[in-house]
Amino acid sequence: MSRKLFIAGNWKMNKTASEAAEDVSKFIDLALGVAGKINIALCPPFTALDRVSLILENTGVELGAQNLSEVESGAYTGEVSAAMLRDLNVKYVIVGHSERRQYFGETDEVVSLKANRALQSGLLPIICIGETLEEREANKTFEVIQAQMKGSFAGISKEDMLKTTIAYEPIWAIGTGKTATPEQAQEVHAFIRKIISETYGAKTAAHVIIQYGGSVKAANSGELMAMPDIDGALVGGASLDPVGFAELIKNALQVATE
Ligand code: PGA
Repeated sequence: MSRKLFIAGNWKMNKTASEAAEDVSKFIDLALGVAGKINIALCPPFTALDRVSLILENTGVELGAQNLSEVESGAYTGEVSAAMLRDLNVKYVIVGHSERRQYFGETDEVVSLKANRALQSGLLPIICIGETLEEREANKTFEVIQAQMKGSFAGISKEDMLKTTIAYEPIWAIGTGKTATPEQAQEVHAFIRKIISETYGAKTAAHVIIQYGGSVKAANSGELMAMPDIDGALVGGASLDPVGFAELIKNALQVATE
């Protein structure tokens, strides 16, 4: 089963709209040649979506957001709805990133509400899951992943699962420079695919894209993508520099097509 690589850059709370516009233009010049061979998305902050959206038009590089509200509309000061994102040609939305879970109290239940809201509204969610260092050291990784999947994917139909990307992001590897080894990541990716297969069937499991996230950079993107169940990456820090991010993508693509 061949799955098309999918690499997304999560800029988190970095870059003003002006900075984002400048960097996206640079990135597009560098990445245009590979944009058809691989799925690429950039996820800038909300404030830069509008400007970045115009630059990405007809480039083959897609736009993603980092969060959305679980409710449709109304008196929810400071929130951003799925319809607002769709109107800016946003295609993907990151849901349940560990920073949202940790700093903003998002539970698996909230994550599932957000993912379902995204799907109902025509957005493709990238649902993040991952264990802490403590949990890994206590040999609880699989247990934690299974529970997160059960809670965060609640209510997602088989059809919608095919539109959902899963990002496995071990929390101890995020922004720490400490990447999971390709073998460590592969082990969890294979486990995630097994759970998808048990829940949704083998055919669905064979199609679902599972990204790895956590200190992915140009120097390690190739070896990670060489693993059979790693289908892409969710990249934080290393996606901020357009030159480095384009290189990361090229290295990943090179290994995946070997
Ligand atoms: P990082 O972040 O690449 O900076 O480790 C990944 C993420 O949080 O998605």
